[in-house]
Formats: sequence, structure tokens, C-alpha cells
Amino acid sequence: MADRASVPETAFPSDFAWGAATASYQIEGAWNEDGKGESVWDRFSHTPGKVEDGDTGDVACDHYHRWREDVDLMEGLGLNAYRFSIAWPRILPNGEGHVNPVGLDFYSRLTDALLERGIEPFATLYHWDLPQALQEKGGWPERFVVEAFAAYTEVVSRRLGDRVRHWITVNEPWVNAVIGYRTGQHAPGETDLGRSVAAAHHLLLAHAAAVPILRANSPGARVGLALNLTPQHPASGSIADRVAATWVDGYINRWFLDPLSGRGYPADIVRSFEPRMDIVQPGDLEAIARPVDLLGVNYYMRGIARSEAIPETENEPRTVSPGDEITEMGWEVYPQGLYQTLARLHFNYGFPALYVTENGAAYRDEVGSEGQVEDPERRSYLHRHLREVQRAIEIGVPVHGYFVWSLLDNFEWSYGFSKRFGVVRVDFETGRRIVKSSGRWYRDLIRSKGRGLSEPLDMKTG
Ligand code: FCB
Repeated sequence: MADRASVPETAFPSDFAWGAATASYQIEGAWNEDGKGESVWDRFSHTPGKVEDGDTGDVACDHYHRWREDVDLMEGLGLNAYRFSIAWPRILPNGEGHVNPVGLDFYSRLTDALLERGIEPFATLYHWDLPQALQEKGGWPERFVVEAFAAYTEVVSRRLGDRVRHWITVNEPWVNAVIGYRTGQHAPGETDLGRSVAAAHHLLLAHAAAVPILRANSPGARVGLALNLTPQHPASGSIADRVAATWVDGYINRWFLDPLSGRGYPADIVRSFEPRMDIVQPGDLEAIARPVDLLGVNYYMRGIARSEAIPETENEPRTVSPGDEITEMGWEVYPQGLYQTLARLHFNYGFPALYVTENGAAYRDEVGSEGQVEDPERRSYLHRHLREVQRAIEIGVPVHGYFVWSLLDNFEWSYGFSKRFGVVRVDFETGRRIVKSSGRWYRDLIRSKGRGLSEPLDMKTG
């Protein structure tokens, strides 16, 4: 038996944010109710062939109507923080101009309900549901959207700025710019490199434009953005693979981290994208380098980079190798990558406060005969990743919170409802919610203030 004296004290600070995250289009439904305008995701999911099984977010988790029940669930889980996003077209149906007060009321009521239960609201202003009206005028590749985002930020922060103390401006600009405008699997489904590069720059500029507005309307609040970060490891020790890993690291990580921390766009990325980087105007990089109070880290996996220059037979041919542990998304489970990422952000970039704003996994869990949902794989995934967060804190990395992705099973973008990420199961026919065993485990962990992580991984069901 372990000597009690050797049980480590919890590394987690007493004000650590133990949270869960969601996004408006993935959970709200009510896509055309109460004056909401159409978003690019409404248009995209209504276009045949874009989303698996023709699923749409028209109803999704029906959170727009069931939000009280969802706040009750959060309280039951013992969360002290909740990250949600605000649907821009619910506030400004055309993206600019006319303000829809009913939309603002919705988020204001939600904010109050969270605060009443001691749950700190972390509001994301943009999680990909761009108003369709703005896309029709060109969308993120056009610079005017930056101004529109600033005006939207002004409207929202004037209303919520007295109560929301943590703001995330934009979520994962890389995914929005690359998957939305270059590879086309996400809304608006464009496939143009130049427009994708412009979209990425304008997303960073929109973030930059929002920072002083939030500081003015929400004094003392912490402001930042959330990036999807994936460490890139070379498939072999060859020089060619190492060069490939460096390039992909630039493409996914440094493209955003460097300008945000005042280093400008990385030279290798500029070279790869020239002449498309001519959208950068004088003053842009200074604005993007405005210091943030926090950086949100969305972490799911690592990448394995291999050079095309080396024949398949002499190299690791895939990102995921046959023996690897993978989730239902086909993503490798690689908890150490979260530690590596957090350490890098602190020691190499010096961001003042880090939050893991998303981390979680899709698994194919089922409802058991007694109505219970056992999801030992998800529990194990969360356990192992939280241990890495703890390790990072132990070496002095300022990690202030962790948000499991996701509170609820929800609309997983182009995969529709086929991928379940929740610690709470949602029956998409009836809307019924069931806390999964991972949710109960998380609740107990929060109660123990993280001490439960020193217990052995429990993979049994029941
Ligand atoms: C992230 C998104 C989030 C969710 C997870 C699985 O890239 O920010 O909305 O879809 O992936």
C-alpha cells in the first residue's frame, strides 16, 4: 500500500478552471428562430453531399431551448468554468448593421445562470459560424470582415462585458482558413490557396481588432484566442523527414504563434505562400502582436511528418501506424504531446497564461441495458491527458484551466452526428441527456482537485 505521506499534493492551483467546452453551431439548433440569420454552416449543411448522412445543425442538441437543463448538468458535474461560443448571426443576422436583441438576451441569460451557480463563463466570439451574408460579400478572404468582426465584438462586449471575465476572440484560425477555404471539407467549402492564406491573415487581424475593444468594454477581463496545436514529429531520423516536420510545424503551429508573439510570419511560411502574402499591410503585424492575457490550446493529437522525397519502402508511410492507439476519428492518442506543447508555449514563446480550451476524444459508446453509458476509453484518454497537464504545471508552466471537449455529444462538423465527443450522451431523436462514466469520473476528479489523477488508470466498466 502506498504510504500516505508519499501521495503528492495536488499541483493544480486552487483557482484552476475545471471546465467543459461547446460551440454554438454544434449544440444550439434553432437555426432560424428568434431573428437569427443564416450562417455559412447552415448553408453548407443544407447543401447535399457536404455532411455525412445529410446531418445538419438545425436542431443539434437543442441547447437553445434546453440550456437550463444543460447548466444543471454542468453544476452536477461540479464544473467551475464553461466555454461556449456566441453565434454571430444570432446577434447580427446580416453580419453587420441590424442588431437582434433577442440573440443578445439568450447569451445574457446563460451568463447569469452560469454565474449564479459559480460557473465562470469563457465566451468565444467566433467558432466558425460566419454570417452567410458576409460570405456572400467574399467572406474571410476579404479584409472588410475584420471591421465587421470588430463591430460585432463591440455589440457583444457592451452587453456581456460586465460579467464575462474571459474572452476567446477566434477559435482555431488554421482550421477555419485551411479546411474552410483550401481543402473545402468545412464551410464555406472553398478550395483556393490564395483565399485561404488571406482568410488566415484576416482571422488574426480580427482577433487583433477585438483585443482593445474587449479591454475597453470588459475592464480587467482576460483576453486571448484558441489555437489548434499539434507537435510534429519526423517519421524517421532522416534529414528529409526532419525538414518535413519543421515545415509542417510552421504550417500548423508557427504560422500563428510567431506573429502573435511579435516575431512576424515565419520566413519558411512566407516563402511557401509568396506572392499571396501581399495582403499584409503596414501595421498589421504590430496589431497582431498586441499582447494577449491568455492563449487557448486545443489539443487532440500529434502529427508524423514524412518527406515525399523518400521512397515509401524506406520510410514510415502514414501519420498513424498500424499498432497505434487511435480514437474513432482515426486520431492517434498521444498524451505526451500536450505536455510538449504546453512547455513549448511557456519556455519558447512566454505566453503569460495558458488554458487547455479543448481536449477530448470520440468513441463509439452505447447505452447499456440499465440506461447507463460506460466509456472507459474516453475516461482513460482524459485521465492520461490531464496527467500531462499536471506534469506541465509541476515544471512551472502557467496552465490555469482545462476544458474537456465536449460537454455534450454534438454536431461534429462534416462528420455530422456520427462522432460522439461528449462526457454527456445526447439522444438526437429525443434530446435526452445521460452523464457517461467519463463525466462521473471527471466530477470526482474535480471534487478531489486533481488528486484523483494519482490513482491508477481504471479501464473497467461498471
Ligand atoms: C476542434 C473544434 C471543435 C471540435 C473538435 C473535435 O477542431 O474546435 O469544434 O469539432 O475539434
